[in-house]
Amino acid sequence: MKRRTFLIAGGAAAAAAATAALSVQRMGSVPDYAAHAAQQRAPLPARPEALDLVRFATLAANGHNTQPWRFRLSPGRIELRPDFTRRTPVVDPDDHHVFVSLGCAAANLELAAQSRGLPGELRFEPGEPPHLVFDHGPGPASVSPLFEAIVQRQSTRADYDGRPATAAVLASLARAAQVPGVDLSLVVDPVVRQRIGELVLAGNSVQMADPAFVRELKQWLRFNPRQARERGDGLYAAASGNPIGPGWLAPTLFDLFFKESTENEKYARQLKSSAGLAVFCAERNDPEHWLRVGQACQRFALQATALGMKTAFVNQPTEVASLRGELAALAGFAGRRPNLVLRFGYGPTLPWSPRRPVESVVELA
Ligand SMILES: Cc1cc2nc3c(=O)[nH]c(=O)nc-3n(C[C@H](O)[C@H](O)[C@H](O)COP(=O)(O)O)c2cc1C
Repeated sequence: MKRRTFLIAGGAAAAAAATAALSVQRMGSVPDYAAHAAQQRAPLPARPEALDLVRFATLAANGHNTQPWRFRLSPGRIELRPDFTRRTPVVDPDDHHVFVSLGCAAANLELAAQSRGLPGELRFEPGEPPHLVFDHGPGPASVSPLFEAIVQRQSTRADYDGRPATAAVLASLARAAQVPGVDLSLVVDPVVRQRIGELVLAGNSVQMADPAFVRELKQWLRFNPRQARERGDGLYAAASGNPIGPGWLAPTLFDLFFKESTENEKYARQLKSSAGLAVFCAERNDPEHWLRVGQACQRFALQATALGMKTAFVNQPTEVASLRGELAALAGFAGRRPNLVLRFGYGPTLPWSPRRPVESVVELA
């Protein structure tokens, strides 16, 4: 290499290093993010305001972490309404996940209010748009282990340790998830698990071959703590077990490394490391029942958390319509639409996923 060439290369390398260092600063610091996420999960006050209850509701699972909800407040009443500006039309064309997510938030809300002596009833309101009404008021306080688990639950997209679940654990998970109108199939049989796992991989292949799916997913990815904190929503890389990166580089790296084969290998490994699969299936295919599915799956995940377990969704065969029939048959729900698939098991804790400030999701009636 001629000296001149070397100098140019050296200069370019130095500039790249300086830019990278700058960008690392711009990525925000992980401890800052962790402290912020911990604050969002601070204990519920003994005498909570409506905003405190809503904060606990928003810690629920929700599709792509778009947080597709609005909470309309009036004395003794919290309405949970879908926020269709946060829908994901490619992966969820009929807003099934929007209503499931709202149901997850409703389960948290009910448990949080109950724990502070404000028990209430969740009521479905049909109409435009369909929504839930939670009327609550002073009454006996009951702090359940599910409530305690709200701030600990997370979707943990990591390898688990392969430990099986005992019959007592399975019974307790099934009990916690009992919601009228929703059936649950707990799959621990290795052969059926394997076949459902193959459907997860098949669904993943279909989705990854669809540029619209990948484009939509990418819009909701948050590549570093700064992005996650500033936006307060979306899929934070570290919370999915992925490396973080500077905003100017990470999307390109994503394009380079987000490949069907590596993703499918990861899913196969993660499924194998789990203790089992939970398939949820509502009796009817309408928003009221999707809301109920949300309540059931959130309660399932909270009970799993209370038992020291982790959960993660592997919904591909429910999202790719052509795979639903086979999944339903394998799970014992032939002829119906299966709503969700969760894997569960024993695994590590990953960084928390972000949430928007509670003030941005409430409105006064
Ligand atoms: C209806 C619904 C569908 C979801 N689908 C998936 C999925 O297919 N894959 C996945 O990894 N996570 C899925 N999730 C999990 C969300 O991405 C997760 O709840 C969200 O990012 C918030 O993170 P947290 O659960 O750790 O609080 C889904 C959640 C819900 C409620």
